[in-house]
Parts: sequence; structure tokens; C-alpha cells
Amino acid sequence: MSKKVYIESYGCQMNVSDSEVVASILAKQGYQAAASAEEADLVLLNTCSVREKAEYTVLQRINEMNRLKAGNKELKVGVLGCMAERMKEQLLVEKKVVDLVVGPDAYRSLPQLLDEVGSGQKAVNVLLSREETYGEIVPVRLNSNGVTAFVTIMRGCDNMCAFCVVPFTRGRERSRDPQSILAECRQLVADGYKEVTLLGQNVDSYRWNIDARGNVKNPGEPVTDFADLLEMTATTCPELRIRYSTSHPKDMTDKVLEVMARHENICKYIHLPVQSGSSAVLKHMNRGYDREWYLERIAAIRRYMPDCAISTDIIAGFCGETEADHRDTLDLMAQVGYDMAFMFKYSERPKTLAARKLPDDVPEEVKGRRLAEIIEAQKTNSAKRMAGYVGQVHEVLVEGVSKRSAEFMYGRNTQNSVVIVPRYSTQFVVRRAQAAMEDCHRAGSRSFPPTNHEPRTIQEWRPGDLIQVRITSATAGSLQGEPVAPVNEPAMQA
Ligand code: SAH
Ligand code: SF4
Ligand code: F3S
Repeated sequence: MSKKVYIESYGCQMNVSDSEVVASILAKQGYQAAASAEEADLVLLNTCSVREKAEYTVLQRINEMNRLKAGNKELKVGVLGCMAERMKEQLLVEKKVVDLVVGPDAYRSLPQLLDEVGSGQKAVNVLLSREETYGEIVPVRLNSNGVTAFVTIMRGCDNMCAFCVVPFTRGRERSRDPQSILAECRQLVADGYKEVTLLGQNVDSYRWNIDARGNVKNPGEPVTDFADLLEMTATTCPELRIRYSTSHPKDMTDKVLEVMARHENICKYIHLPVQSGSSAVLKHMNRGYDREWYLERIAAIRRYMPDCAISTDIIAGFCGETEADHRDTLDLMAQVGYDMAFMFKYSERPKTLAARKLPDDVPEEVKGRRLAEIIEAQKTNSAKRMAGYVGQVHEVLVEGVSKRSAEFMYGRNTQNSVVIVPRYSTQFVVRRAQAAMEDCHRAGSRSFPPTNHEPRTIQEWRPGDLIQVRITSATAGSLQGEPVAPVNEPAMQA
């Protein structure tokens, strides 16, 4: 009998993508995906260490595993990802319920580790690698909508931002072979996917066949930077929409912006984390740019793509942040007018530069108040940006049925905002009815439209449909619209 594994992903999109690599490795061992933790023989938690709260959530979830194990003596529990890497054996000591601890670069050893666990031992592998990219492993898509997918293009991070634990949990930066990236994208097209998001902690420093100092490794082969990779993906898979995340302001080149502007299938959306609007704080954060540099990058985006949406990450209350620094952040937010932002209170992480060198000196209530002000400012910005879209016609890729009502579908425009459209389009019902009527005329019938034609005239939008939508209203979080003309008409072509 085949075994069942349930994988839960926490943290960023890279973890979601890694879980699909893990599922693929385990599928070769005969594991199938379980629908819930309750039905599984093996539960894997793919974890995040980025903030203390993220770890707390996972620690609570680990405790819940005791209850599951009480009901299923055979159940094994594993911790993967960034917390596994950060805490290592300590996790086994602190949480007796955990059988297995595996870091992000050690997933290929899962079969051997599971053998050890099967014979009643605890197993750990948290070795980091300079080479591992899981390049040739074909991921098993989990919780997929069948329309959008993640493709990891690089791993690790060399940046050492003072607040950030990622370089310690994910190891050194390395890029994946462009040919394996393109092969994965082509396979996604063949499987019916319509959109990919290329993932890396800092995609702008993607490089293949060239080292950090600019020396070409193999003179017989082409060098590929991120702009080249974007262009190759866009031309190899013209039917795919392409997104990527995350850009780094210090490395984002005009070459990338130029490629984005030139290819219609590269979405006009950039996530460009600023972290702070104060040059002094940015310096303490070791981000490698100042306020002026960041604002110049924003201006460059607007020069190449006036319609491009921009989102960001902001940290409130980093070490030494003064009221004036905080006001600089609010001021920068007003100046940029972000479409969307992820906003966090600073949370000190062990081992980081800030933990070792800088006192976490902004009081908790001040952090809270500053964060609230930042969130409030962003609400205003989002509402303004979204209201600006009303009246425009946007191309929307339908992803699924709206969570609020089965009468509506949701999708995204190129700017990555969620757009809600009616599931059944009356406009096309009318057009279809008219077409049916004309058919009847041609056939010499006088009774029209025949009632038995009506069911076929209803247009039901499905995941994967690309529709032109006139935006009719907006909130800070989403847009509503009416389809104006079908780009692909599955029902009409039938
Ligand atoms: N590689 C991406 C971000 C990775 S982590 C980049 O460089 O932008 C995602 C976000 O979490 C960061 O952009 C930052 O805003 C936030 N973050 C990271 N460490 C944090 C910490 N110690 N406290 C609060 N927020 C943090
Ligand atoms: Fe962390 Fe900075 Fe690397 Fe992003 S670029 S993952 S914030 S160290
Ligand atoms: Fe979290 Fe690791 Fe991603 S710390 S944000 S899961 S890289």
C-alpha cells in the first residue's frame, strides 16, 4: 500500500516551490499527497524563520502534532525549511514529537532519512550546499489552480541585510541552469498552465556561467543574466504570462526594465522592497542603497513602463529608527504611491548583523504605533491606485471561483491586482442568442431563438480564460469588472 504525505508550507513563495520539489522526491519513494494531516502517514512542516511570530506559529502547530500522533501511532512528523536550518538538533530536543529535521539544501537525502526514521531513529540533515538547485527535479504541483505556477531560478542569498535571517537559513546564493528553467516552463505550458512566477530572494543577481567578479566560467557557452533569462522565457513561451519576485533596488538594472517593456507577456508589476525611507536606517540595515537611489529606480520603472504597478516591503522600528526616520518612510510612501505593501514590525533574529551589533532599542509600543501609521498610509495609497483603474479595460487571467460567492470568478490583471468578474457573462449570452437567431434565419426557421439553443449560449468563465474586463469599481484590496470581449472563447470555438 502506498504511503501518504501531507506537506504544509509556511513563509515565502520559495517554500511553496520547495514543497513541490519535496513532493516530487517523495513521489519516487511511493508517497502520494494526503488531503489532510489527519489522513497522512507523514506530516512535513516546511517552515519560516523570518520573524519571531512566524516561528511561534510553527511551534504551536508542532505541538498539535502530539494529538495526531495519539490517534495514529505510525505517524511521523518532519520539520523542513528555514526553522529546521536555524534550530537544527535543538528542535528534536525541544519538541519530542518531531522525528525528522531537514534543511532547505538537503531534500535529496529525504529517502535515506525516512529509512532511519522508519526504523525508530530520529534523523537530521541540515547541511547547506553551494551548488544544490534541484535543477532537474520536476516538481509535483501541490494545491495548484492549474493556471499559475512558481519556478525557482536561484537559491540562497549573499546580501547580509542586517535584520535578515535568510542568508543563515538558505546559505550562499547560486543560480539554476537556464536550460532547466526553460524546460520546466515548457512543461508547464504543455500541462495547460498560463502563468509562471520566477522566484529568487534577489532575482536581479541571477547569473549563469559568470562568477561574482565578472569572470566567465566556460568561454564556449553564453553568459545569462536575469534580463537575458526573462527575455529567453518570454520568447520561448510566448503563450505564458511571466512574473518574478523579488527584485533588489541595489541591483535592478535598466536592462531588465527594457526587456519587461518590450515583451507583452511579462507582467507589468514589480515588487521592490524598500524597508525604510530613511537613508540613515538603510545604511544601518546594510541594504546597499539610499533613499535617492531607490527613488531614482522608481523613476526608471515609470520611464520604461508608465502603467507598471509597484509593491514593497517595509519594516517599522528597526534599531535606532527615530521619529524623523519614520516620517521619511511615510513621506517616501506618499511619493511612490505603492499599489500594495507588506508591512512588518522589526523582529530581532539570532545571528544576524543587527542582533550582534545593534540594540533593538525602539520600544514595542512605538513600533506598533509606527506600523499602524504605515498601514494607514498604505490603505490610502492602495485605494488611490485601485480607484485610478476604474474605467480602464484590463486583460484578466481567470484563476478560480471567488471565495465570497460562486456566482463570481477571480483573476489578476497584469498589475497583479485581483479582479472579480461575474462567472456567467450576460453580455455574451446576448451575443450567442443573436448568433443562434441568425442561424435559425439561415435555416429558414421562424421560431427563434429555439429554447434548446439557450443553454449553449451562456458563457461560463473558467480558470485559465483570458478576458478583457472593463473595471467598474474598486476597493483597496480588489477590483470589480465586466467582461467586454473574449480573447479566447472556449465555448464559442466548440
Ligand atoms: N529577499 C527579499 C525579502 C525576503 S524576506 C528582499 O530582499 O527584499 C521578506 C521581507 O520580510 C523582507 O523584505 C523584510 O521586509 C521582512 N523581514 C525580513 N527580516 C525581518 C525581520 N527581522 N523583522 C521584520 N521583518 C523582516
Ligand atoms: Fe534577506 Fe536582504 Fe537577502 Fe532579502 S536581500 S533575503 S532581505 S539578506
Ligand atoms: Fe521565511 Fe525562509 Fe522564506 S525565513 S521568508 S521561508 S526564505
